[in-house]
Amino acid sequence: MHTVKTLIRDIPKAELHIHIEGSLEPELMFKISRRNGLSLPFHSVEEVRKAYKFTNLQSFLDIYYEGMRVLRQEQDFYDITRAYLERIHAQNVCHTEIFFDPQAHTVRGIPFETIVTGIHHALLDAQQQRGISSKLIMCFQRYLSVESAMETLHQALPFREWIIGVGLDSSELGHPPEKFIPVFAKALEEGFLTVAHAGEEGPAEYIWQALEKLKVSRIDHGVHCVEDARLVKKLIAEQIPLTVCPLSNVKLRIFNALSEHNLKQMLDSGLCVTVNSDDPAYFGGYITENFMAVQEALNLDHNDIYHLVKNSFQATFLNKKEKQDLLDRLEKFMSQYKQKGLVKDKDTFDRRGYPLLKI
Ligand code: ADE
Ligand code: ZN
Repeated sequence: MHTVKTLIRDIPKAELHIHIEGSLEPELMFKISRRNGLSLPFHSVEEVRKAYKFTNLQSFLDIYYEGMRVLRQEQDFYDITRAYLERIHAQNVCHTEIFFDPQAHTVRGIPFETIVTGIHHALLDAQQQRGISSKLIMCFQRYLSVESAMETLHQALPFREWIIGVGLDSSELGHPPEKFIPVFAKALEEGFLTVAHAGEEGPAEYIWQALEKLKVSRIDHGVHCVEDARLVKKLIAEQIPLTVCPLSNVKLRIFNALSEHNLKQMLDSGLCVTVNSDDPAYFGGYITENFMAVQEALNLDHNDIYHLVKNSFQATFLNKKEKQDLLDRLEKFMSQYKQKGLVKDKDTFDRRGYPLLKI
């Protein structure tokens, strides 16, 4: 018999909020550091994992930037991307939109071309060999200057075809989106789409700024939107996607526990929320683990999972035809799934015919 858990496992999924450097598992960190003749301040994989205790966003970012220092060669960027893609292939993810943090590498003397070429080739190989489609989004680190972001944007221009959009990440508080108005204006002029982390640790006001001043197509995190009813109304009316990362939010103490997370509340209110992993090597899981954990904590049913996945397909940066193909694939999957014995006599059904099983 199918359960919500098997639905989560089998349903085709898309991920829209994943920092590729945040998928660096300790095992690969050691392998790459050895290959590059570097030493780590840890003796074992277990020691690394033990260090992953965070109290807020900054405490995580300090360790995260330290970990990614092992990445130096094009092969390193290829390997980390490839490892992530293999993981999500096993989780039935068919489309992913990946962030990378160029400044965290260029500041160490790594050429922009080395970073983007390694990542791009892994994405191409996964498309050909695993059938995973993807997009690449370049993030500016908001704690750095607007001049540094502008310089990074210029470095990206020769790779325009490989990068769909620009984003904003790192330490949110004290670095409002409006700091980056000229860079995002230039990025839009050059044809990039825009997104921004906003309302993760920061207030609803930062979400307003991202929407109105940076013209973003999606909000990354955005969980603080619920503090502003007028904002929620706009996000619902315009179906502006929120890329929510449940395990991340608990690890960084945005919520005290998953059972206190507002994902279900946001979904029920009609917001276009999606489930994502953020930094899976640091926060305890990839997309399926996020779905499983939040399903259990918030008692999500089949219909909730279906809607979360559908939202993510609708929120992708794919073209209209590619998006429709994904949505068709989802509908086909759901109708086969319903036929395969999900239905039990005493179940209650929602209006689409999915039984409201509680597991
Ligand atoms: N970079 C990687 N993960 C991040 C997060 N959760 N918030 C801001 N910047 C990040
Ligand atoms: Zn993030």
